[in-house]
Amino acid sequence: MRPVRAVVTGGAGFIGSHVVDALVARGDEVAVVDSLVHGKRENVSPGAELHVQDIREPLDDLFDEVRPEAVFHLAAQADVRVSVERPVEDAEVNVLGTVRILETARRCGAQVIFSSTGGAIYGECTTPARESSQFADQVTLVSSPVSNDLGRATGVSVPAGAVSRCS
Ligand SMILES: NC(=O)c1ccc[n+]([C@@H]2O[C@H](COP(=O)([O-])OP(=O)(O)OC[C@H]3O[C@@H](n4cnc5c(N)ncnc54)[C@H](O)[C@@H]3O)[C@@H](O)[C@H]2O)c1
Repeated sequence: MRPVRAVVTGGAGFIGSHVVDALVARGDEVAVVDSLVHGKRENVSPGAELHVQDIREPLDDLFDEVRPEAVFHLAAQADVRVSVERPVEDAEVNVLGTVRILETARRCGAQVIFSSTGGAIYGECTTPARESSQFADQVTLVSSPVSNDLGRATGVSVPAGAVSRCS
């Protein structure tokens, strides 16, 4: 496989830093976008370039410089307590930040790989959940309608994910 130029948002965090390691090991050219609000500089592979930047701010200059072919979007406000205590802040990062990434990627013609679904969608399990396991009652799969709308709005392919529904 030929090397690609990739942006990994949240690349100083838990999941993002492992994605960065895997891409660097493949020989890809990797730029990390992370505000370091939770991530750590030392998590970022020396083979990647760290840009300390908030995804709520414009990213056009950075994307113009990097010219990514692929964007792995893993920057997130991932703390459930914060999402309950400060829902506006949560939405600004997770919703508007994501839309900004999609928009910027569309302008550059980059593919977006968006991966943010956790095991919580299966609820409290007594045994390890499988991908085919039933979702918890209060979970809605954001499948074709929403991801297609996002895809149509932004012109990039957005795979289906899942969100918890407030009850
Ligand atoms: N950790 C898990 O087990 C797990 C499982 C499934 C899905 N996920 C999802 O994967 C994503 C990443 O989770 P994680 O565990 O790596 O979280 P994390 O907190 O370790 O990483 C998130 C990264 O995003 C950065 N960030 C936060 N807000 C930012 C902003 N406004 N601008 C730029 N960077 C910002 C943080 O500094 C951090 O480095 C989340 O959407 C999470 O819900 C996590």
